[in-house]
Amino acid sequence: MGESQHTDQTWQREPSPAWDGPAPEELAAVSITAERYSSREFFAKEWDGLWTRAWLLLGRANEIPNPGDYQAEEVGPESFIITRQADGTIRTFYNVCQHRGSRIVFGSDGHVDRFVCPYHSWEYATDGTLVHVRDHEDFSPDPCESLRLAEVRTEEFCGWVWITMDDQAPTLKEFLGPIWDEWLAYQPADWQRVTALTARVPCNWKVIQDNFCESYHLPSVHPQMKETHEENYRYSDFQMAHQGHNRMIMPGATPSRTQLGEDLPLPAQLRERLTHWDLNPDDFVDNPLGARKAIQTQMRKLGPKRGHHHYNNLRDQQFTDSHHYNLFPNCSVTFAADGVLLQRMRPHPTDPEQCLFDHWYYAFSPATDKGIVGAATNIRIDGDQTEHRVFDFGDEPMGLVPDQDLSITAGQQLGMRSRAFRRAVLSGQEARVAHFHKVVDDYIAGRR
Ligand code: FES
Ligand SMILES: [Fe+2]
Repeated sequence: MGESQHTDQTWQREPSPAWDGPAPEELAAVSITAERYSSREFFAKEWDGLWTRAWLLLGRANEIPNPGDYQAEEVGPESFIITRQADGTIRTFYNVCQHRGSRIVFGSDGHVDRFVCPYHSWEYATDGTLVHVRDHEDFSPDPCESLRLAEVRTEEFCGWVWITMDDQAPTLKEFLGPIWDEWLAYQPADWQRVTALTARVPCNWKVIQDNFCESYHLPSVHPQMKETHEENYRYSDFQMAHQGHNRMIMPGATPSRTQLGEDLPLPAQLRERLTHWDLNPDDFVDNPLGARKAIQTQMRKLGPKRGHHHYNNLRDQQFTDSHHYNLFPNCSVTFAADGVLLQRMRPHPTDPEQCLFDHWYYAFSPATDKGIVGAATNIRIDGDQTEHRVFDFGDEPMGLVPDQDLSITAGQQLGMRSRAFRRAVLSGQEARVAHFHKVVDDYIAGRR
């Protein structure tokens, strides 16, 4: 290492592309009251104004590789069937029979030649065509001539399948705005799911998205992170996009600035990461802040040779720093160089005080490399186990960090029932919470 190592201030922000968020006065005008999280009237307005109009991340293309493969996904009162077509494209249908409205598919995934309604056995081809009606001569006219499964607009991006129920919605690319190019750089379409957990949580879906929109809670809710990251969160770089998305970049592969000058060992995780990239951790004991830059340089040099070809698209910062996105309306997506954590909140069909929380991790692990290192921290990774587990929150562990987050959000939902809570008071670090609610309001008011 060079002589400049002791003055290397790698915790400082690096320039990253700016986004075009709202003006501060627009955010200051947002009022976050308790009824947004519990009122059925607000819940209904949200369904009509927002859920039926935004683009929604629904499924994963590489999990339905063959014609006839399907995934069924619920969003509020709706259920959708995503299916692979004979021509290789993907189409999505409302999971409802056009005879008398039965749901057609009840499992979460599978393979069919035809979708057969369990009630009176109407049969639909995987392209939605109604192909068989028992006793069809008893109907007038023949339903096969006029009916088919109702379809929703579907697009694929970065390996995920997205839908919108709104035929007038902008394209997915317009909806994603600055996210489009940033995610594309990682080339994550083939990354494999390594964790898929879904919990039923007793809080409104926005309580969890709010939590993912701020880092103010980190020292309190995740005290284990204080050891290495205490100040990084406070000083993290964040941006907002007028489409409703937020981005926060948190420096990684670096100990806290507050530890400078103290005789602390390198965190074990950082040692492991240095070793993985053929660097000697002992060279950084006196210069822990030099580790981040050294890892970036090594990843740029060795990564493509080890099969990480997408590294050629990434900024140095993307090798080490966690890029955390609040995807409007209902996902939190955290990219590391070789893995992405998707956390998704889905509304309950009828109850504003409940939601579904998905915690899925997708990873890139080239055969030539030694596995997943430097993934976003504190994620439960079960090797290549891809079983999708669904349970009530608290019945099974999801990982330390999500368990900490969800316990706090369930408690917040209880507190917000109190007549003594009027509205949220936000710090500068919580501006993204205001932004999220502003865009929710825009959708409900028909301004989007
Ligand atoms: S409701 Fe589906 S066949 Fe009757
Ligand atoms: Fe958290």
